[in-house]
Amino acid sequence: MRTLIEDLSAILEDAFEAEGLDRRLGAARPADRPDLADYQCNGALAAAKAAGRNPREIGAAVAERLAGHASFSSVDLAGPGFINLRLSNAALSARLDAAEAAPRLGGWRTPAVEKIVLDYGGPNIAKPLHVGHLRSAIIGEALKRLLRGVGHEVVSDIHLGDWGLPIGQLITELELEAPELPYFDAAFEGPYPDDSPLALKDLERLYPQASAACKADPARAAEAKRATADLQAGRPGYRALWRHFIDVSRRAIEREYADLGVSFDVWKGESDADPLIPEMAAELRAAGLTENDDGAEIIRVARDGDRKEVPPLILFKSDGGVLYGTTDLATILDRRRTFDPDRILYVVDQRQGLHFEQVFRAADRAGLIDAGRLEHVGFGTMNGKDGKPFKTREGGVLKLRDLIDAVDAKALERLEEGGLAADMSAEARADVARKVGVAALKFADLASPRTSDYVFDIDKFMSFEGKTGPYLLYAVVRIDSVLKKAGRADGLRGQAASEKDADWPRALADAPARDLAMAIAGYGDAVKAAVDKRMPHFLAEHAYAVAQSFAKFYAACRIADEPDAGTRDARLRLSVAAGRQLLDALATIGIDAPEKM
Ligand code: ARG
Repeated sequence: MRTLIEDLSAILEDAFEAEGLDRRLGAARPADRPDLADYQCNGALAAAKAAGRNPREIGAAVAERLAGHASFSSVDLAGPGFINLRLSNAALSARLDAAEAAPRLGGWRTPAVEKIVLDYGGPNIAKPLHVGHLRSAIIGEALKRLLRGVGHEVVSDIHLGDWGLPIGQLITELELEAPELPYFDAAFEGPYPDDSPLALKDLERLYPQASAACKADPARAAEAKRATADLQAGRPGYRALWRHFIDVSRRAIEREYADLGVSFDVWKGESDADPLIPEMAAELRAAGLTENDDGAEIIRVARDGDRKEVPPLILFKSDGGVLYGTTDLATILDRRRTFDPDRILYVVDQRQGLHFEQVFRAADRAGLIDAGRLEHVGFGTMNGKDGKPFKTREGGVLKLRDLIDAVDAKALERLEEGGLAADMSAEARADVARKVGVAALKFADLASPRTSDYVFDIDKFMSFEGKTGPYLLYAVVRIDSVLKKAGRADGLRGQAASEKDADWPRALADAPARDLAMAIAGYGDAVKAAVDKRMPHFLAEHAYAVAQSFAKFYAACRIADEPDAGTRDARLRLSVAAGRQLLDALATIGIDAPEKM
């Protein structure tokens, strides 16, 4: 289905064309002055410039053609030649009918279905999951649901960091602590034990210890490097130990992401690309793409006209070791073979922008995939109140587990303060608290464009007022309870309500109700913008706009207790449309709303 803006633009474009002007000038956009219009078109100004004519004259001619069109209740010329449009009740009613018939994502579907690999999460085994992996998971999960919802075929891949130096550091640290383990005995012929010698808390203790030791002592660091190289070369004891690390970490990662409503189709890692590196390198060499640079093997990716220096991608270091760029390049080869995607999206901190630029250019040069089909969907950092990337009070990185627990506790506290969920069992209340907590965390992240930084402020995120997750959940619960009060026992989640045939124009008579209807009608445009720009925040914005419009409507108009039956049914019908759309938008950005609170 076309979005509202697409519909209006099509009407405007025809009018421009009929005036002998360039169709493309007939683009509609939300009005700058909602008190004067719903949508506006500024095309007359550009048309006048191109034709050397008076913009007001052109605007008047186009407006003349639009006057009387069934979609508009008014068409006015304003300022130097802006065309201001108000949607007719008939057109708005048709939009509401469509929203009702196709509540999912405003009925918007992608015109060109693609197979997309979505790379997000990207936690590193050995290291605990930390808040840096939070944004990737939140944004990636929202994009997965959104892209899938509009018709794309999406494979989500966590792309575990399971192959680098941290593993070597960990292996050597364990060797210092427990040299008697068979994994370190090069002569041991196996089989190695099935059970991991380490639990998660051992890993969490060993890694910081190892990394500090390596920082302090070059010999110790060299030893870790040697172990990493041996692991990568296939030393059996190290491989067996590494498998244990992956298993133990994966269980924890899965649990923590599941608590946030984040899941993956594929759990591949950097290591999966490793076996492909030799043949990839051979092909690159055969194609004459690699060069020797002081013992290292590189691919040059600089281009004429680069505004900043783009250094070569290092395929092999002089000691033969591989780097992040090498595995990312080989991962593209792996993905081509396994999924043959049309596109790969990387939801990764924008500070890795140069890395992806190098990888994409190298992939393009290597003929693996066009650089235009690779997208770095970067994001800013979550900062502390000091404006620097968020740290704990002790100055360490906050573990995701601790963050989730803190948010849970805060949510419970807020529910108690507000007297919410009071008549529930402790278990049910804990479930609501978890949902409120996750909504707070996710909404705070998705409420601004992903490219912006934001400040972590748990009290603000958790407030039931303002642009927050809890506010939105509360809006859904309120709509639900209005419906129940009006006798719809199953509320928002039940079958189509009985006021199905209520008369829309009757609901649209009051300005706050009409504003709500306009907000609802804009869903398809929000969805399309979110897809086109890979920016889930358009959905968050939209959900907030609908919730806010509903609050105003609710304050201004009686709903369940409206004495006039026809008006009541029409308002209930509008409330259902608002509530269902809110639920849909929230579910798409990965937020689960409790039924009660
Ligand atoms: N493990 C990486 C990190 O923690 C993120 C991986 C992102 N994905 C990728 N294909 N490079 O920084």
